[in-house]
Amino acid sequence: MNKPLTLGVAGLGTVGSGLLRLIASHADKLAEAAGRPIVVTGVSARTKSKPRGPETAKARWFPDPVALATDPGIDVFVELIGGDDGVAKAAVEAALKAGKHVVTANKALLAKHGIELAKLAEKNGVALNFEAAVAGAIPVIKTLRESLAANEVRRVYGILNGTCNYILTRMEEEHLSFDAALKEAQEKGYAESDPTFDVGGFDAAHKLALLTSLAFGTKVAFEEIHVEGIQQITAADIKAAAELGYCIKLLGVATQTESGIEARVNPTFVSMDSAISEVDGVTNCVALDSDFAGTLLLVGAGAGSSATASSVASDILDIARGIVRPPFVRPVASLKPHKRAKIGAHQGAYYVRLSVMDKPGAMAGITKRMGDRNVSLESIVQRRPRIPPSAAGDTTPTANTAAPVILVTHETTEKAIREALAAIESDGNVAERPQLIRIEEL
Ligand code: HSE
Repeated sequence: MNKPLTLGVAGLGTVGSGLLRLIASHADKLAEAAGRPIVVTGVSARTKSKPRGPETAKARWFPDPVALATDPGIDVFVELIGGDDGVAKAAVEAALKAGKHVVTANKALLAKHGIELAKLAEKNGVALNFEAAVAGAIPVIKTLRESLAANEVRRVYGILNGTCNYILTRMEEEHLSFDAALKEAQEKGYAESDPTFDVGGFDAAHKLALLTSLAFGTKVAFEEIHVEGIQQITAADIKAAAELGYCIKLLGVATQTESGIEARVNPTFVSMDSAISEVDGVTNCVALDSDFAGTLLLVGAGAGSSATASSVASDILDIARGIVRPPFVRPVASLKPHKRAKIGAHQGAYYVRLSVMDKPGAMAGITKRMGDRNVSLESIVQRRPRIPPSAAGDTTPTANTAAPVILVTHETTEKAIREALAAIESDGNVAERPQLIRIEEL
C-alpha cells in the first residue's frame, strides 16, 4: 500500500465530527478509491474537554489551529472552523505557505479572501478545494470545474439557503407569518438565534459569489452582488403568488448579460410548473444553463453533518489521487475582473402589492404612473378594502381605508418599475411602501 495521506482537521463541530465519522466508517473504501490510506493525524477544536468519538483517539491534539496547519506531520489541512477572518484565515494562510493542501467548507472566507488565498495556493503548488462551501452535498463545484469545463455557462441559479427555503415552504404550506415560520425553524435548529445572516440573503450571496466566479471565469466579487432577504415577505404575498400559479423562493441568480454580470440574491416568483418550485424545506438546488450541455439541475442536502462531510471527503480524495487544479478553474492571473450589470437594467416581469387608498381616482393615478414609464400590466386584482395595511394577510375586517391591490407586469426594466412606484408613493395613493418581487423565467 502507498504512503498514507495525513490530515489535520481544525474544527470539530457539525461538519468536522461528520468528517471524522465518515473517515472512520469508510476507511477501506477511501483507501481503495485513493490508492492509499487516509489518516487523521492531528485535530484542533475550541474545547478539548468535550467528549469525542473514538475517531480522534489516535490523533494528536493541537490547541492552536495555526500550529496544526503547519505541522510537519500533516499533508492536508482541513479547515472547518468558519468565519471570514480571524483564526480560520490565519490557519489557512499558514497551511498554504507551508506547502500544505487545504480543504475548506468556509464560504465566508472564500467569498472575502478567495482570490488572495488562491494566489497563495498556486504559488506553493498546492490545492485549495471547497466543494462543501456551496450547497452541502451537491457536487456543483466539481460540475462547473470538470463536467462543464468545455461549455459556455450563461446562467447559474438556485436555492442556496436551506433556512430560507424552509421558512418560505412553511409559510406556503401552513399559511404562517414570516415570524411564526422563523420561530419554527429556530426550534428545529435550522435557523440561528440571530438569523440575519441566513434570512438577509448573505449566506446565499457568499455561495453565489463563488459560483459566479467558477461559471464565468471572473474574480470573486461578493460586494458586487445585489442582496435582498426574505424578511419582508408576508402571508399576503405567499397567498397572492399561489393564486397566480407561483410560489416564492429565495434564489441566487447570476446571468452573463451584454452589459456585464447580473448577480443577485432575492425572493423570486417561480412558476408552479418549474422543477425548482418543487424543491421544498431545507433542500438546496443549483441549476446551470450552458450552451452544449443545456440545463442541469442538481438537487440535494445543502447542509448537515453527513452531507457536508461527504463533499469535504471528495475534495480530500482528489488530493490523495494527486489532482491539484487552480482553485477557481483558471490561474488567478487569467481570471477576468467582475463587470457588474446595473440592476436597473434588469429586464423581467414583476409582482407588485399595493395598499391603495380607497378614494376616487387612486387606481387611475396608479395605472397612469405605470403607463408613463411604459410599464404594461398583465393582471390587476383588487380586493375589498378590509385588510389593514399594517397587517396585510390578516383577514379580520376593519374600518381601514386601504385596499390591497396585486399587479403583475409584462416584461419591463427595473428602472421603469421603480420609477413608477416612487411616483405612486409620492402621489399619496398608497398607504404603505409597495412590495416588489421579481418574477423569474426558469
Ligand atoms: N445556514 C445555511 C443554510 C447552511 O441554511 O442553508 C450553511 O451555509
